[in-house]
Amino acid sequence: MSLVVNAEVVEQNEVMQGHFRLALNAPEVAAAARPGQFLHVSCGNTYDPLLRRPISIHTVDRQKGEVKLLYRVAGRGTALLSRLKGGDLVDVLGPLGNGFTLPAGSENVFAVAGGIGVAPLYFFLQELSGLKHKATVLLGAAAKEQLICVDEIKALGHTVLLATDNGSTGHRGTVVELFDLYARLPVHSCGDYNPDEEMSGYVYGCGPAAMLKELCAAVRENGFSGEVSLEERMGCGIGACLSCACKVKDGKGGFRHQRVCLDGPVFPVEEVVWA
Ligand SMILES: Cc1cc2nc3c(=O)[nH]c(=O)nc-3n(C[C@H](O)[C@H](O)[C@H](O)COP(=O)(O)OP(=O)(O)OC[C@H]3O[C@@H](n4cnc5c(N)ncnc54)[C@H](O)[C@@H]3O)c2cc1C
Ligand code: FES
Repeated sequence: MSLVVNAEVVEQNEVMQGHFRLALNAPEVAAAARPGQFLHVSCGNTYDPLLRRPISIHTVDRQKGEVKLLYRVAGRGTALLSRLKGGDLVDVLGPLGNGFTLPAGSENVFAVAGGIGVAPLYFFLQELSGLKHKATVLLGAAAKEQLICVDEIKALGHTVLLATDNGSTGHRGTVVELFDLYARLPVHSCGDYNPDEEMSGYVYGCGPAAMLKELCAAVRENGFSGEVSLEERMGCGIGACLSCACKVKDGKGGFRHQRVCLDGPVFPVEEVVWA
């Protein structure tokens, strides 16, 4: 079920330079939302910009009827969004998209986020924590000051590993390199050390396309499986305009197109065809 809602802004805070957390009063959306879904947000009160902007659902508080978005100012639409104040109204369409699959068993779960990719994964990790399922969360950014949600994710009970490009904290290098190093550790799935056994697990990824491409390769090379949330520019957000097409394997050695807004944004690692 997706809805068009004129949601009231509860509050908006700048959590880091150019990054905002926007809380909206939208009880029906909060009730229906699942991790990995997104809202298609009308960023201004005029026809400029004309198109809505897709922003992932970062977290919901179903009791309060609130939905939060966490976003980076990338251009005109998000810059307009960042000016909203408590009491303002914002037109949102959603929740849209398929969302992440919650694990059914007790497998090792890894969440790998690059930069603002942590936004939808936080909602997923919150739901996972509610199921008493702990994950290993790998967060990457250019520098320590640009890592978001580290303490909030630790507070959910998950293990957090960090990677920064400049080495200011955690692994010096990319979050995918860190995942690759970690995935090669000989640890039994129940946590006991066993040098003869390889780790296995299911990976949830979100971040820039270049990072996700590398992550999908690392997941496959290490014999893991998983799913990634793709980003494409969107028009309608509901499957009608085909502007958000991506390529997935067709099972016969070729590919077919799917719509990121309707068939995704979450796709199995094994299915995505990268350019
Ligand atoms: C399903 C989905 C969920 C998303 N969730 C979030 C989120 O939670 N937080 C967040 O900060 N961003 C998220 N994005 C990206 C966000 O939609 C774009 O940053 C936003 O639309 C940019 O709009 P703008 O008007 O500010 O910038 P524009 O002026 O439209 O573009 C500025 C720059 O961003 C690039 N860009 C614009 N849209 C996209 C896009 N969809 N994918 C990749 N690059 C783009 C443009 O090529 C340009 O270089 C998500 C995108 C998708 C598809
Ligand atoms: S944005 Fe129109 S089909 Fe996906």
